[in-house]
Amino acid sequence: MKTLTLLSAATALLLLNGCSTTDVAPPAQYGTIGDKVWNDANANGQQDAGEAPIAGVKVVLYDGAGSLKLDSTTTSSAGAYLYDKLIAGNYKLRFVAPAGMVSTLTGTGSGLTNSDADKLGWTRTVTIDVSKNLTDTLHVNTALDAGFRPQTSYAKDVNPILVANCAFCHSETSGAAFAARVKHVNNYANAKGIGAAILDRVSRAQGAAGMMPRNGTRLSEDKIAVIRRWVEDGLGE
Ligand code: HEC
Repeated sequence: MKTLTLLSAATALLLLNGCSTTDVAPPAQYGTIGDKVWNDANANGQQDAGEAPIAGVKVVLYDGAGSLKLDSTTTSSAGAYLYDKLIAGNYKLRFVAPAGMVSTLTGTGSGLTNSDADKLGWTRTVTIDVSKNLTDTLHVNTALDAGFRPQTSYAKDVNPILVANCAFCHSETSGAAFAARVKHVNNYANAKGIGAAILDRVSRAQGAAGMMPRNGTRLSEDKIAVIRRWVEDGLGE
């Protein structure tokens, strides 16, 4: 929209100066990259119904190699951003994760509702070709989006699972003899220390040797996914 306004203003100026529109080449057209950032609560890399936009997220524009910073903007209250004055060329974006949040790229980003930001917030390199029709994504690409979810925390997300399913054996109250053999996973420092082992044990198949909870029922996939994310997010408190 802005581009169209600009073009007509430039044309008007040319006409005021006594030029006819056929005297000069049309002003350069611009390409567009946009346009949204949202809270990907279920971490599936897609914007599902009810997942809210995130305002104030920094979206930095780089050259195609991702080495030269060209511009920076932040998302609106609708989680929207737009770079609409781009000359032809290659570009890359970096979405800066809001405090306490991590990117949810699933590795399949491309569609309109898919997240395109990798773990560090980088998109792939996209080309803008202003010779293309305005309906061509090479000219107007509004499908460069980023989903972020709250970073998984021990206290909020993992502790309730471990207390409910593991503390019976792995806690200070599970008996001295037992406590000597198994770590107390109901406190952060201990759980963090064996985070990878916890993920390994709960991921094993039902009935497999060493599967946890020992002699019990394997945790639900949702709960295992929470523990996996906690490990991937860096075992935060
Ligand atoms: C019925 C008691 C019991 C329950 C419930 C239980 N465990 Fe265990 N756990 C044990 C025993 C006994 C061992 C030591 C034997 C072994 O390593 O398999 C152990 C060992 C472990 C180890 C290896 C410790 C290490 O330092 O490498 C991990 C990790 C573990 N459990 C995690 C869990 C998690 C997570 C849960 C809950 C989802 C859980 N356990 C539930 C009894 C239990």
